[in-house]
Amino acid sequence: MYVCIECEHRTRKWFGRCPECGTWDSLAERSEVSMARRGSAAGAKATLCTYPEIEVSDQPRTSTGIGELDRVLGGGLVQGAVVLLGGEPGIGKSTLLLQAASAGADSGREVLYVSGEESLAQLRSRGDRLGVRSPKLLVAAETDVDGILELAASAKPTLVVVDSIQAVRCSGLDSVPGSVSQVREAASRFVAWAKSSATPVLLVGHVTKDGALAGPRVLEHVVDTVIQFEGDRHHDHRLLRAKKNRFGPTDELGVFAMTETGLVEVTDPSRLLLAERSEGAPGSAVLAAVEGTRPLLVEIQALAGEPVQGSPRRTVLGVDSNRVALILAVLQRRIGLELASRDVFVNVTGGLSIQEPAADLAVALAVVSSAMQKALSPRLVLAGEIGLTGEIRAVSRMESRLRETRRLGFEKAITPVAGLPTSAVEGLELSPARDLDEALRHCFED
Ligand code: TYD
Ligand code: MG
Repeated sequence: MYVCIECEHRTRKWFGRCPECGTWDSLAERSEVSMARRGSAAGAKATLCTYPEIEVSDQPRTSTGIGELDRVLGGGLVQGAVVLLGGEPGIGKSTLLLQAASAGADSGREVLYVSGEESLAQLRSRGDRLGVRSPKLLVAAETDVDGILELAASAKPTLVVVDSIQAVRCSGLDSVPGSVSQVREAASRFVAWAKSSATPVLLVGHVTKDGALAGPRVLEHVVDTVIQFEGDRHHDHRLLRAKKNRFGPTDELGVFAMTETGLVEVTDPSRLLLAERSEGAPGSAVLAAVEGTRPLLVEIQALAGEPVQGSPRRTVLGVDSNRVALILAVLQRRIGLELASRDVFVNVTGGLSIQEPAADLAVALAVVSSAMQKALSPRLVLAGEIGLTGEIRAVSRMESRLRETRRLGFEKAITPVAGLPTSAVEGLELSPARDLDEALRHCFED
């Protein structure tokens, strides 16, 4: 049996392209036994009840012992939940999960860490760097899924970590470890075990730069939660985000720094992200962003180059390039800023990616500042969405943005007119702007 990893279409014959959704190379082999098993699990008898009879069950959560990880999971691990931690090789997945396993064990609960990629000696040398020592941490080097589940069944730990899903294999399937069918079958077995034993399982999954490979993408449907570890190997900080979460929100951001002795939680990311800012340089603007419930100040940089012959380049990192194109068009039309013949580069420092439209105003003013070679005030923060007629539109959570702004010592904020908090933030001068012209006057007139 072959199943499309995109649309779950089933066929008996293999095709290079899914006959249902048309995706190339998306058919994965599945054994009929496991398909039948999944079917019967789903077919359990349902009962009728009235709405008020539904038991209110607040999923009990256990802390992983790492605050930033708990935050991204939505407050800790839920019983029987399977969490997939994705990320490029070398980003720090094994380090994070060994630290989480160790923190769990330090709090007196038994945790099983299964290494399919490293020998126990390698695990030990990493662990020693991280200060792991708890006798409650059980470890095994095992790649056979049934073997892992036997160990788990006999040890009855409160958490199982498997590093990685690509390294394990299921006996009874011919395909090689890491292939789509192996990875998916292995994950389904871990899911079935997690549900039946009410034990949370954390799986590591490697992804390549383009997010491809027989990996996490096919698993996203199978597991409860997918979290993604990102960052730049050349920078120390690492960002953790939820991509899917059955038990919580998906927009929370966790921030870590990789050090000689492992990952350290960054509880004040704004300060870290603004640490290298060159105050008073043209082309730099500070944005008051919000990631999940967390306000975050980040620097947006722009460089509007000299006029060029031929087609000018647009290079955008960290913000939506379609929005940047829109902003450039609005700047040209509304304030007559000549950009059509210039290269424009826009970058969010720290390798961060900001998807919210609230970044528009900071992007626009960074571009204007660079084009005019006039610096913005280093004490100024911006937040606001720009509409096609140049109007500045309201953005969410203005109050927490403004509090973060003030906390970091900024003195002035240019904001939309609508959606402002009812009470003033002490020490912060608010300059609401109806449109781009007004925002520019607030920026450059004094
Ligand atoms: P690792 O957790 O092995 O990455 P992954 O499991 O995602 O492939 O982390 C790899 C990198 O982290 C490696 O380049 C070394 C670095 N590192 C530190 O800087 N400090 C440490 O304490 C540890 C354990 C690793
Ligand atoms: Mg690893």
